[in-house]
Amino acid sequence: MDAKHTTRIIAVSSGKGGVGKTFLSLQLAASLASRGKQVVLFDGDLGLANVHVLLGLKPEFDLADVVAGRQALRDILLEGPRGLRIVPGASGQREIAELDAVAIAGVLRGFDEVDPVPDYLIIDTGAGIGSQVTTLARLADVLVVVAQDEPASLADAYGLIKVMHLDFNFQKFEIVINGGNNLRRSETIFQRLDDVCRKFMGLPLEMAGAIPYDETVAQAARQRKLLMDVSEICPAMTAIRQISLRLESLPLQSESWDFLIDRLKLGKVTAS
Ligand SMILES: Nc1ncnc2c1ncn2[C@@H]1O[C@H](COP(=O)(O)OP(=O)(O)OP(=O)(O)O)[C@@H](O)[C@H]1O
Ligand SMILES: [Mg+2]
Repeated sequence: MDAKHTTRIIAVSSGKGGVGKTFLSLQLAASLASRGKQVVLFDGDLGLANVHVLLGLKPEFDLADVVAGRQALRDILLEGPRGLRIVPGASGQREIAELDAVAIAGVLRGFDEVDPVPDYLIIDTGAGIGSQVTTLARLADVLVVVAQDEPASLADAYGLIKVMHLDFNFQKFEIVINGGNNLRRSETIFQRLDDVCRKFMGLPLEMAGAIPYDETVAQAARQRKLLMDVSEICPAMTAIRQISLRLESLPLQSESWDFLIDRLKLGKVTAS
């Protein structure tokens, strides 16, 4: 239980739904795995899991079995493409959709037994700023916030950042502008979000990258394949690769799982 883990945890969240969190989580995880990293992708959209659907995998067991004590976390891991391991979430089960922070912490203890120890744990959260999202996001060393170039998405990204920073004192936000068609425009959008966060919270953001709208993304989803297995060089894949290289280059934290789980139990902290 007290073993040190050297797993870097990256959560992917957005506030608004449907902006590309699951797409980015999966392709980012695959990109890291394809470079020889041990990667576990955790489907943290707890009530409406769909990572396995995107890959055409049919899990025999899922998180609901872990929560009910029928399976250990290590035993439900699915083998995905490129050596990626996936923790399949449950879909359409209300008790999972309503899991609280203590129960989530209980599930996470199972990571102590996952072998080999992952270099990266990528968490695809659901939409919104509810407690499941913030609980999973608080575990992360880095929170990747996905936003699109439209007012509701940017307002919700700001809402998520605000809650994570003011309520939980979270500091490290990496922003991805997804689905645009112009890099300069995406940079301007990032700049606006950064300006607002600096002005109202004194919080600087980082830009992890911009992913253009790309038809190949839908093609890969229809074929139940990774984007890189449909095209290594399409514009979206090129952007994902750059984002994964950037995230790999960020300084690594190393805490015990117990420490992380204790962090979840602390609840809200007052920002200093
Ligand atoms: N850069 C892109 N180019 C083209 N299509 C994209 C791109 N990014 C995402 N999509 C598509 O947009 C749709 C929504 O993406 P995704 O399911 O990843 O969003 P999400 O934020 O996880 O949604 P939810 O909040 O419901 O979990 C999917 O059909 C996905 O294939
Ligand atoms: Mg999703």
